[in-house]
Amino acid sequence: MTDESTNDDPQDAIDSQGERRRKELDDRIFEHNAGDEQEGIPFVGAGPGNPRLLTVAGKELLEEADLVVHAGSLVNSELLDEYCDHAELVNSVGKDLEELIPLMRDAYEDGENVVRLHSGDPAIYGAALEQMDALEHEGVPTYFVPGVTSAFAASATLRTQLTLNEVSNHVAFTRPQGKTLTEAEDHISEFVGMGDVTACIYLGTHAVRDTMDRLLEDGHDPETPVGVIYHASWPDEDVIVGTVGNIADKVEDAGYRASAMVVIGDAVTGAGYERSFLYGDWANRGADSSDAASEDEASSD
Ligand SMILES: C[S@@+](CC[C@H](N)C(=O)[O-])C[C@H]1O[C@@H](n2cnc3c(N)ncnc32)[C@H](O)[C@@H]1O
Repeated sequence: MTDESTNDDPQDAIDSQGERRRKELDDRIFEHNAGDEQEGIPFVGAGPGNPRLLTVAGKELLEEADLVVHAGSLVNSELLDEYCDHAELVNSVGKDLEELIPLMRDAYEDGENVVRLHSGDPAIYGAALEQMDALEHEGVPTYFVPGVTSAFAASATLRTQLTLNEVSNHVAFTRPQGKTLTEAEDHISEFVGMGDVTACIYLGTHAVRDTMDRLLEDGHDPETPVGVIYHASWPDEDVIVGTVGNIADKVEDAGYRASAMVVIGDAVTGAGYERSFLYGDWANRGADSSDAASEDEASSD
């Protein structure tokens, strides 16, 4: 979706693309599947760190790239060394849209293969869409290539599931209040209060004590399990497991202020779950299953 008019203000481009999106869905939604190679600049999820957790599609695109604009220290340099040693590398940290958009647009218009590499999955706390809208507004097509988000690396490291029968029915990808989020927009206490939600807190390593203090002030059980996974899937990965009552001391002792996933809820330990219907009653019920049960069954794994 492009616009012939030229305008240097990325916010105007974002507003204009948003207006178009409100009126009609982009045809490309129906023409391509996620994972298909498409025309334009791919916004690729690098995964949580370990280069083996990059998708095959992402790896192929990086190997063909002339210019890779990456998310700095959140992307493991091993991955850049392994797949991008032939490409020009630009760290996006500290660059604004006014700098990034012309950089990617000009390279693309010069016929280069440009890849925008985000950490984890670009759809989670990635600010990808504003870059894509600004590029589309300038006539440069873009598309997403998903990646493994860090919450999934954290749950794999913890050897647990984020949803677990009779323990956790929901997952919240969330972040704590701070410069970006106001107090009223911080819902961590509500998620924990629901009792069957696993809260995966991004961008909250520096705020573990404040977050836990708020949970205690709100009357939550100090024994609620918390896992803090620093650099999940990196060679220096570290796992700290504790409770709402004691995790802040442990994280401070370890000295982590960034790059960790904070997981709150009983799913952290993986204890106390019940066997599922999937490999129990439903598996044995055969043709008698109701429509609703069949749909649930078909969509579980
Ligand atoms: C700007 S967000 C980007 C999230 C990314 N798009 C994703 O899907 O994982 C950065 C935050 O993600 C989390 N994070 C990213 N990589 C991580 C990793 N390997 N281990 C633990 N947490 C990670 C940290 O909470 C960090 O503060």
